Parts: sequence; C-alpha cells; structure tokens
Amino acid sequence: MPQISQLFFKTAVICLIVGLAMGLQMGISGNHIVIGAHAHLNLLGWVTCAIFGGYYALNPSKAGKKLAMVQYFVYTLGLIVMLPALYFMELGNRQLEPLVGIGSIIVLVGVLLFAVIIFSRAIAVVPEAGRA
Ligand code: HEM
Ligand code: HEM
Repeated sequence: MPQISQLFFKTAVICLIVGLAMGLQMGISGNHIVIGAHAHLNLLGWVTCAIFGGYYALNPSKAGKKLAMVQYFVYTLGLIVMLPALYFMELGNRQLEPLVGIGSIIVLVGVLLFAVIIFSRAIAVVPEAGRA
C-alpha cells in the first residue's frame, strides 16, 4: 500500500478511536451536546480519510504525485483545526466559532485538491523487477 494510504488510514483510525470514545461518553452520560464533533470526527475523519486512503491504494499512479502529499497535509491540518475547536465550542466556548470556520475552509481546500488529483492525468508507474 502506498505511503499516503498508510498515512490516511493511520489518521482515520485515530479519528475513529476518539470519535467512538466521544460517542460512548455521550451515550453513557446521556448528554449529547458534542453530537457535531462526534459526527464530523467519524465522517470527515474516519470515513472520508479511509476513502482517500482507499482511492490512493487503488490508484498508485496518483499516490506518487507530490500534490497527493500536499492534499494529505492540508486536509489533516483542517481536521486538527476544525474538530477540537468544534468540540470545545459545543461545550460552550462560543468564541471558538471562527476557528471552526477556518478549519472547515482548510478541509474544503483539502477536498478541492483531491478533486484536482482525481481529474489529473495518471503518471506512469514502473513495475518492480520480477513482478508482472
Ligand atoms: C461506539 C460507537 C458509537 C457510539 C456509542 C455512538 C453514539 C452516538 C450518540 C449518543 C449520538 C447522539 C444521538 C442523538 O442525540 O440523536 C450519536 C450521533 C451520531 N453518530 Fe454516533 N456513535 C458511535 C459510532 C459512530 C460512528 C462509527 C459513526 C460514523 C461513521 C457515527 C455517526 C454519528 C452521526 C452522523 C450522528 C448524528 C446523527 C444525527 O444527526 O441524528 N457514530 N452517536
Ligand atoms: C467542512 C465540512 C463540513 C462542514 C463545515 C459541515 C457543517 C455542518 C453543520 C453546520 C451542520 C449542522 C449542525 C447543527 O445543526 O448543529 C452539520 C451537520 C451534519 N453534517 Fe456536516 N459539515 C461538513 C462535512 C460533512 C460531511 C463530509 C459529512 C458526511 C460525510 C457530514 C455529515 C453531517 C451530518 C450527518 C450532520 C447531522 C449531525 C449533526 O447534527 O451534527 N458533514 N454539518
């Protein structure tokens, strides 16, 4: 599996662990106030990162592009800015709202870069010696 897929799956599973912990914490406490952080950590973090990782694993010619690594770092930065800010905003820190907005825009830029990669031409991949 290409390095970028490994990175996306590592990021995805960290989001899943934290997202599930948040879900359990909501379920056990009966206080569902952090529903947005839980939903988006699981959907933007676990699900979307796993789809990115799967796409690159199925398209090794795209995984080798420098832009793919830029896309990983931009998207992950967006998650790191957006999700903790959303969590603490939902807990009552309304002043964090602009940070959630900034993080969301960075996430969107990461998705737009992914669109550029999807529509870009594939680069030739040289097969390893001894493999068909
Ligand atoms: C241990 C596993 C999980 C637990 C205990 C859990 C728990 C919860 C709880 C308590 C809520 C609030 C429900 C409400 O107030 O209506 C919720 C909402 C939600 N969860 Fe989870 N969750 C888990 C896993 C997941 C996973 C894996 C995903 C996505 C891949 C997910 C996606 C969502 C979404 C999208 C919502 C919002 C639903 C809505 O808007 O009505 N959850 N979850
Ligand atoms: C930067 C990207 C995103 C932004 C800024 C965003 C923003 C929002 C907002 C403002 C809400 C309403 C929350 C509320 O009523 O309190 C929401 C709800 C929701 N979004 Fe997103 N969203 C994004 C991406 C996504 C993606 C990619 C998915 C699914 C793959 C998703 C699934 C949901 C779901 C299931 C809900 C209802 C759960 C809840 O009440 O929090 N969102 N989102």
